[in-house]
Amino acid sequence: MEKIVRFGVSIEPELLERFDALIHAEGYGNRSEAIRDLIRKRLVEAETEEGRGTVAATITFLYDHHSSDLVNSLISIQHEAPVDIKASTHVHLTHDLCMEVISCIGEAREARRLGDRIKSLRGVLFAETVYTTPEVFGKEPHKH
Ligand code: NI
Repeated sequence: MEKIVRFGVSIEPELLERFDALIHAEGYGNRSEAIRDLIRKRLVEAETEEGRGTVAATITFLYDHHSSDLVNSLISIQHEAPVDIKASTHVHLTHDLCMEVISCIGEAREARRLGDRIKSLRGVLFAETVYTTPEVFGKEPHKH
């Protein structure tokens, strides 16, 4: 059983009212779990901002597969990236558009670099990288 610490927070009533309305709408049963999630999110952000630590990341991107050389570039970039790409999912969205989601594990700075390289390619219309860090939660990711 994990130990739990209770602490008091001083906050303006209007701010708390807005926070309560937000977390209620999001489905939280109480403030504690919402505040724990905020703290975890901030810790993950702090880790990845500095580019250190091991992250599990997803890169979601949308592109036009008719763009010349784009598909080859996307494949080369993934083969060259110094991260461990665990899976990639390809969805043919429309006649022109493809959506891909890459799941990878690696150094935060390398996962970010991979996401940035994909985003900056001509023909990529949207790209976003989402990070989580198992280490923030005291867990080691599997590195095979
Ligand atoms: Ni496709």
